[in-house]
Amino acid sequence: MLEKIKQTESYLKAKLPSLPATGIILGSGLGELVTQITDKVELSYKTIPNFPISTVEGHSGKLIYGKLGEKEVLAMQGRFHFYEGYSMKEVTFPVRVMAALGVKTLLLSNAAGGMNPDFEIGDVMIITDHINVFPEHPLRGKNYDELGTRFPDMSEAYSKHLIAKAKQIAKDNNIKVQEGVYVGTQGPTFETPAEYKYFRVIGGDAVGMSTIPEVIVARHAGMQCFAVSIITDLGVPNKIVEVSHEEVQQIANSVQPCMTLIMKELINRT
Ligand code: HPA
Repeated sequence: MLEKIKQTESYLKAKLPSLPATGIILGSGLGELVTQITDKVELSYKTIPNFPISTVEGHSGKLIYGKLGEKEVLAMQGRFHFYEGYSMKEVTFPVRVMAALGVKTLLLSNAAGGMNPDFEIGDVMIITDHINVFPEHPLRGKNYDELGTRFPDMSEAYSKHLIAKAKQIAKDNNIKVQEGVYVGTQGPTFETPAEYKYFRVIGGDAVGMSTIPEVIVARHAGMQCFAVSIITDLGVPNKIVEVSHEEVQQIANSVQPCMTLIMKELINRT
């Protein structure tokens, strides 16, 4: 793995004009933020050595370097999901590469099902903590001390400092935000009513199929993380209706401007 990270790092160092301190991973149908990036260098995942190839509809699969406002960023448009068949090492490989390139802050977004009864479809939820129920852990196996410690602390997986800033930005711009705990599950099925209830009982406010593996690896590498979920459907008793990938994408797409503003401001105020 160390060899692969080095290869990809060298390849990208030769392609990128400079090395940003901020990384961004955008979820399903949440790629709008990249339209605001200027001075872009776009690299299709297909062309990057050792990168897996994204297969899900709604993910175009590009690494984008550029400026978001005044700050340089390295953004992934489209991520790798465990349900696609990738191992956790593959899912999180790009985060390893970002760390090697010097990324210190990682911002992530995802679409998720809301379980908190106060939530509504279209809400933006700032993730304050997570519960990992994926069946495989990205740090399982030999630990490379060069990459991080064997037993990483997770007491502040999501930076309190960044959460406070994001809430202030939302307030200043009259954007309603929720806060809550994200449960990460393997998918690809959406939850049964009993599963939504279970995830609510164990302490979740929203459930989705991503983000946690990347955050774990980012924390292992010492990055600070900030993540938001767009609530695209509700797993709340009496409000549960049939969910489709298309609807999830459509709702995620319509809420993007609020999320984009929060992330852009957050990067520029940091
Ligand atoms: N469950 C899991 N993943 C999701 C959901 C959901 O309800 N909505 C969007 N992604």
